[in-house]
Amino acid sequence: MSTSSLAHLYSKSACCAVPSAIREINKLVDSPGMKSLAGGWPDPAVFPGQEIIRITNELLNDKADRVLQYGTTEGLTELRRELARLATERYGIVCSPDHIVITAGSAQGMDLACRVIINPEDLVFVGLPTYFGGTGAVMAACGELLGVAVDNMGMDTQQLDDQLQRLKKSNQRAKGVYVIPNFQNPTGNTLSFERRKHLVELAERYDLIIFEDDPYGDLRFEGEHLPPIISLDTHGRVVHMRSMSKTFAPGLRVAWTIGPPEMIRKMVVAKQFVDVATNSLAQYILLEFIRSGLWEKRVQLNNQHYKSKRNFMLKQLAAHFPEQAQWNRPDGGFFIFVKLPKTLDTSTLLTEAIAHNVAFVAGQPFFIDGSGTHTFRLSYSQSSESVIAAAVAELGRLIKKKLK
Ligand SMILES: Cc1ncc(COP(=O)(O)O)c(C=O)c1O
Repeated sequence: MSTSSLAHLYSKSACCAVPSAIREINKLVDSPGMKSLAGGWPDPAVFPGQEIIRITNELLNDKADRVLQYGTTEGLTELRRELARLATERYGIVCSPDHIVITAGSAQGMDLACRVIINPEDLVFVGLPTYFGGTGAVMAACGELLGVAVDNMGMDTQQLDDQLQRLKKSNQRAKGVYVIPNFQNPTGNTLSFERRKHLVELAERYDLIIFEDDPYGDLRFEGEHLPPIISLDTHGRVVHMRSMSKTFAPGLRVAWTIGPPEMIRKMVVAKQFVDVATNSLAQYILLEFIRSGLWEKRVQLNNQHYKSKRNFMLKQLAAHFPEQAQWNRPDGGFFIFVKLPKTLDTSTLLTEAIAHNVAFVAGQPFFIDGSGTHTFRLSYSQSSESVIAAAVAELGRLIKKKLK
């Protein structure tokens, strides 16, 4: 087929959207023999395959007419009812099915929220660093990004406050803040309770929407769960994205967004034109999985599994990395974030590591201001202990060589 450039015909949104750096790395990681600590995907070893086979068979035998049919755009009513109960009892988010839309992954929740909230050139604050799926959704809506520092207590809300004040003085305003409150991707850090409250105050003071992206919240290995930001907000300024990808099965693409009913209705209208409805069979499977108590059990099992992997990786890092490297000890989730001396460039390190069949994610793409060139993200979720041990040892060797 002959190709001529159609660049002049592409929409503004298509031009604003940029591909995710992780997707590019995933292609490399697939090569045979690669010892990868790059992908932040769940471990297939804990997928509930047998339970899903049993439930699917029962559903197809008993109610194929319903589970193979189109569903409503907002999602299966019984599932939204069950999720509203879970949200109220487990997370302290008091809500009803009207506050919930079921989405194809929380990625779709963020995309729909951006479609509903973001106009071209609207300003949205994001963490330095943050997950590029979130920033990508804002950019696809042609919004613009501003960075706020992230430290070991999550996004620095005092710095956010200062920046919001400066904007106000110059007669500008921001539309929102994108935040990953628990075991953030990529740092693994959790937003403190004080900062959660501060964020809610700032949203009210500066008329902002908070995009609370929480796919890792259920994966807490130790310590107390902190209240979700949406549960601290009394003004309906928070849209809260949850996912079943990390605790159930990401390939089934079931997630849910909680928000004020008016905003959820607008997201439902936007979703109608995107995919009509989320996969009916997947929603019925999840409904049965939750109702029968399997989901709660699975969360506990998964957390033991990932905790032991986290501990293993921490032990390997302590054994093989030089003292000039710093890293955190996450209380949950999938990620450990490493900082090297500022003179070291981790994208060069990545090229060398890949030549030795080891992969990780260099930190810079997580920083919208181009900083973070001395950082990188490691994930312990997907790889076996033998791969973690070999990859960390090789990385330690390469870093020590560079430091010489
Ligand atoms: C912070 C964050 N948000 C959203 C997602 C997307 O998850 P889902 O599978 O629910 O679309 C991910 C996936 O890794 C993530 O890390």
